[in-house]
Amino acid sequence: MSLFRRVSLASLTLLATPVLLLAQGGRGGEPPKNLQVFPKDTPRQQITAAMNGFTAALGVRCDHCHAVDANAAAPAGGRGGPPLDYAADSKEEKKVAREMLKMMMDINGKYLPLTGRTFGARNSVTCETCHHGLAKPQTLRSALAGAVEAKGADSATALYRELRAKYFGSAAYDFGETSLARAANELAQANQRPAALALLKLNLEFYEKSSPTYQSMAQISLASGDTVAAVDALKKAIALQPNNPQLQQMLQRISKTP
Ligand code: HEC
Ligand code: HEC
Repeated sequence: MSLFRRVSLASLTLLATPVLLLAQGGRGGEPPKNLQVFPKDTPRQQITAAMNGFTAALGVRCDHCHAVDANAAAPAGGRGGPPLDYAADSKEEKKVAREMLKMMMDINGKYLPLTGRTFGARNSVTCETCHHGLAKPQTLRSALAGAVEAKGADSATALYRELRAKYFGSAAYDFGETSLARAANELAQANQRPAALALLKLNLEFYEKSSPTYQSMAQISLASGDTVAAVDALKKAIALQPNNPQLQQMLQRISKTP
């Protein structure tokens, strides 16, 4: 076990960028008092480096997991915010983070080495592998499907716009051309065709020349019995991809149906 721990700790430390290391960090140099997953004698500096890795991977600050220190006399200098009681276990997020840490150490210590030859520190799993900047990692598809389920198609489109404005260009969500189309196809399969069409329409706002988006629109419109909309979408897809035989065949098939 202790070997796994040392390996994981080394890769966590590797993660923390020097800039963050300089910018943040716990007070003073006293050794940690309440380590239950990291080895008890881990130097504070190494813990701070791992913690900077946590905050960057989850897109949060220290107070996401550490509670405010109710007994602290003076407010923290410099970076603002009340001082935190790092040793306390009062926040649920800290407890979850411990379980996550154990899970990650199991993945890197037990499972990945079994896959063999190329496994090493550089491709080991870190918090970032799953969290990629989000406190609660989720694909865009799941986030949108959840919104459709909870409040309908309009709330899913609103959520997409909101997430796109906030996270575009980061690793948090996939805003590529196929992403909304896949979300739409999954919704269509789950009998949520109006929501699926709404998402495809939204995709065209960002990818106006996306022939596959029009093709999906045609298929879903057809499944909803709306032949007129299907033909219309198909013609647009063909205009963008005149040499796609699949689209031509589909148009012929639809035109034949009475
Ligand atoms: C995602 C949750 C999370 C975030 C964010 C986080 N920590 Fe931690 N922190 C933990 C966990 C979990 C432990 C306990 C590890 C263990 O039990 O081995 C811990 C332990 C510590 C300790 C050791 C406390 C002691 O005396 O035992 C310090 C110091 C610390 N964190 C500082 C920070 C700082 C500074 C930040 C911000 C840069 C930070 N943490 C951000 C989860 C977090
Ligand atoms: C194998 C993928 C995976 C890895 C690796 C991973 N996490 Fe998570 N984590 C998740 C998922 C998925 C959730 C969301 C669970 C949920 O929604 O209930 C989550 C949730 C959490 C939460 C709870 C968030 C909340 O607001 O309720 C914390 C805290 C957390 N992770 C911290 C960490 C830390 C710290 C690491 C690295 C030591 C880590 N995770 C590594 C997948 C992972």
